[in-house]
Parts: sequence; C-alpha cells; structure tokens
Amino acid sequence: MAEIKKSWYKEMSVYQIWPRSFYDGNGDGIGDIKGVMEKLDYIKSLGVDAIWFSPLYKSPQHDYGYDIADYKSINPEYGTLEEFKELLDAAHAKGLKVIMDLVINHTSDEHQWFIESKKSKDNPYHDYYFWRKGKKPNGKKPPNNWLSTFTGPGWEYDENLDEWYLHLFCKEQPDLNMDNPKVREEIKDIIRFWLDMGVDGFREDVITFISKKEGLPNGFPIPAACGMEHYKCGPNLDKYLGEFREVTDQYDCMTVGEAPMMTPKLALRFIKEGAGQKLNMMFNFQHMEADCFMIGWIHTPFNLRKLKRVYNNWQTKLYGIAWNANYIENHDQPRIISRYGNEKYRVESGKMLATMYICQSGTPFIYQGQEIGMTSIRLPEIDMYKDVQAKDTYKLFRKLGFSHKFTMKTAMYASRDNARTPVQWTGGKNAGFTTADEPWFYINQNYTEVNVEAAEKDENSILNYYRKLLKFRKENEICIYGDFKLHYKNSRKLFVYERNYEGKRMLVINSFVEQPVCFSAPAGFDLSKGKLVLSNYEVADNTLNSFMTKPYETRVYLFE
Ligand code: GLC
Repeated sequence: MAEIKKSWYKEMSVYQIWPRSFYDGNGDGIGDIKGVMEKLDYIKSLGVDAIWFSPLYKSPQHDYGYDIADYKSINPEYGTLEEFKELLDAAHAKGLKVIMDLVINHTSDEHQWFIESKKSKDNPYHDYYFWRKGKKPNGKKPPNNWLSTFTGPGWEYDENLDEWYLHLFCKEQPDLNMDNPKVREEIKDIIRFWLDMGVDGFREDVITFISKKEGLPNGFPIPAACGMEHYKCGPNLDKYLGEFREVTDQYDCMTVGEAPMMTPKLALRFIKEGAGQKLNMMFNFQHMEADCFMIGWIHTPFNLRKLKRVYNNWQTKLYGIAWNANYIENHDQPRIISRYGNEKYRVESGKMLATMYICQSGTPFIYQGQEIGMTSIRLPEIDMYKDVQAKDTYKLFRKLGFSHKFTMKTAMYASRDNARTPVQWTGGKNAGFTTADEPWFYINQNYTEVNVEAAEKDENSILNYYRKLLKFRKENEICIYGDFKLHYKNSRKLFVYERNYEGKRMLVINSFVEQPVCFSAPAGFDLSKGKLVLSNYEVADNTLNSFMTKPYETRVYLFE
C-alpha cells in the first residue's frame, strides 16, 4: 500500500463564506467583513481550521464577485483592505487560516485592463484579452461558434474597435489572454500580493479553462458550452500552472483548483504528489451529478449507485498519490438536503450526508449554512432570481420550447440562488442576518425553525453533529489518512465503506432512504467489537451485526 504523506492542508477542514449572504455587520442589508469579524468565534467553534472567502474584491457583482474589477482591493460593500487585514490577523490569532478565491480566467469588464484594452487596437492592454475580427463577409458574426457556459454566444461585439471579445461566462466577464506573458506576470504579482499579506492559499476559479487552443477553432456544435474541448485543460495549462506554482512554492500555502468535467485520471496530471505537481487538490463535479445529467438543470432522479461509483473512483484512484477536496455544497450548488437528502427528515438526512462525505479521505469543505441544515429556497418566479446563470438558462429553456411551468420547476430545483440566501442566524426579524429593513435577497421562510440560535440550544442539532464529526476527524488519523473500501456496491439504498490505517479500522454506514433496509456487517466486521463513535439516532443495542436501518440512518464504528 502506498505510504501516505502527511500535511497540514490534508488535516484541515475549511468553512466557505459567500460574503454577501453571511452576516451583515453594518446594517445595509448586505453581508460584509465586519459581519465575518463578529462571527469568527462561531466559525472557530465549528472545529474548522480555515476559511475560504468567495471573492471579496471590488466588483460590479454581475456574477457576485466572480467578475473582479480590482484584484488588490476590497468591494466597498464588504469593507476596506484595512478591515480585511484586521480580519486576517484576527482569524490567524484564533488559529484559522484564510484562503482567497483567485479568479483569473476572466476579469470584470470594469477592470482597468479591460477598459484600456478596448480603447484601441494598439493600446498596451489590448492583448490582455481575446480580441478578434468577426467572420466574413462583414465581420458581424462572432469569430467562432463557442458558447458561454452561461448560455448564449461566447463573444461580444465592440462597435468602436469593430472587434469581438471572448467571454466564456457572462459578457461582463471578458476572458484574460493567459498566452500573453505580461498577463501571467500580473497574475503572479496578485498571488504575491495576497501571500505577502499573509493569506494561506487560494481556491482557483475554473482554473482548467485558462489556456485556449491556438487559433480558437470552432467547437463541436452542441447547444451548451460549445468549444469546451478547446479550452478545458488546454495546451498550455500545465506550463501556466507550473509558473504560478513557482510563486506559491515560496510560501507555506495551499491551492485547490476548481475543475469542471474532471476525472480522477486527468486530475492526477495536475495533483499527483511529487516534482510535477501543479495544485494540491481539485474540486471535481462528478459527485454533484447523481441527480442530473452534466448540469443541474437537466434533472434526473437521484441515483445512489452513480454517486458511489464516482466516490469510489476518486477515493481509490487518488489514495496515497494525491489528495481529494470533498464538498457537497457551495455557492454554485443547491442545498444538499433538498437534493440527496429529504426535507421531511431534514435533521437525520443532514447528519447522514455530513458523515457520508466528511468520513471519506480528503479535505472537507463546508459551505455556510450547510452546518445548520439550510434547504433550497425554490423561488417560484423568474423575476425573483438574482443569478445571471438562472436568468440566462431560463431564457434558453424557453427558446428551446420548454414551457414556463416546466422551466420554473427546473429553476426551483437547480438554481444557484438556492444556496445564496442569507444565513439564518436567529428566529427573529430577517433571521438575524441584518438590522436593515430589507436584506439584499430573500430569506428562506423556514428560518423560524432553521437557525443558528435554535441549533445552538439543541444538543441533537445538525450544527452540534457537525462539531462532533469534525472533532472526531481531527482526533482520529484513520479518518484523515485511512484508505477507502466500498461495500454494498450495488445497493440503491445503502452507502457503506470501510477505512483502514495503521492497524485500525472504521466502518461507515449510511442509509439514503426513508424505508427500513436490512443491514448486515460485511465479512470480517464484528460490530460488538467496535465502538459506535457517531450516529444520528439513539441506538439501543449497538453490538448487533444485523439491524434494520432507520430513515437516513448513519453510524460510524471504530475498531482499535
Ligand atoms: C466558478 C464560480 C462561479 C462563477 C464561475 C465564473 O464556477 O464558482 O460562481 O460563476 O466560476 O467565474
């Protein structure tokens, strides 16, 4: 068996903050740095070791911060750079590391580089972006057939220059031309700026898209993300990541790259430990596709076998040679209880899902509100949505002939807005998120029941379960460094796996259904010899080797 290399980033767990909806400290209805500062003790109390901030930088917020207008300043709605530095120091003083979002595939169209680049073709910044002539005869057609991953053409025309610029996301997010060495120097400078300030690493946004195939050839004509084969893990990706790695190597920091359409085999090219390694970890998407086909908007019934196949693949292929980044929620994914769990069994399924992924090998990431079992808001009218992706996808679905009713049903299930509602802190006005009359976005009406204050008072809450679970992981190396072996491979109801480390064993049992399922300990396990360390029900007799599971039951046995 491969010898596993220990490291701080493997032992940590990370809390993700999407700042706009975390906590409003200055009473304007929008989450901010002051709000995070006030909640630092709460974050620390979860037992996490680091915070990843979704973009805090200056941004017109077309894509809620993923459109950066200035990489070295803080969005005024969130605070100032001085306030950020204070937060960084305060977090460090509490033993919390800070990870920034590095969004370098594109900038905002309000970034100074872009403003310069569109002034004239001979402007020194022109070549910071992909400006191209339109197609003949009159140049009024985009240079190629690539589509934005948010739907619609991947190009926008500029009258003044009579040229088009590439945007793989919304038109306010022009793609940076990473082939230009000057752009790469700028990026290195940004990386140094934050690391010199003391941040501990980066989550790198759609990092596998930064190198585009020379000549930008037409893509295979598909109705969404057309052209992707020419920019996903493009020709110079390894080279560019290698250059950035030379910078990050000078610091004790970590990197996790967001990687759509990634497989374990391909991921190893970038995250395999050793000389050629480019990133510490990658966020893949495959485990988020157990209830959809490729994208959330093509909804399919939840398929546990598909989920287990994916996990098994990542867990076993990376073990000992690379490291997983484990998550089940973030700002791009609807709430997990509303997808893979069951709102009727919110508490039970919330705890089960937490156990299912946090007990696997890899660094766990927990998204704000996940720890109290927040659920999807399911906004019924398209005008109520804020996310550009939801609005654009709605339009596309209607154009493709789907009815309003069907499209709304899909949006209610799949929209990213489901994850972006304000964190529910109390059962009081505006869920305690803001003292303003109106929060910037709708609050899920279940806040009277689902909120931090109530969860704190209830020793059986999801919140207190997360604390126990993270503590267990921290105190038991097997939960961090153990291997992974799947049992009940073909079950459509149970997700059972074992882990082994230095002579110890752990058995993790999860039921994904409401109805009772007959569970029998896999060969070689005698539950009466193990210790039941985590569970989401009172277990009368935890020594029985066979039992009928309760709805969404989870149990973790440790054999020492
Ligand atoms: C990533 C972000 C997402 C954003 C997109 C474009 O997928 O997580 O929120 O819209 O990149 O930056």
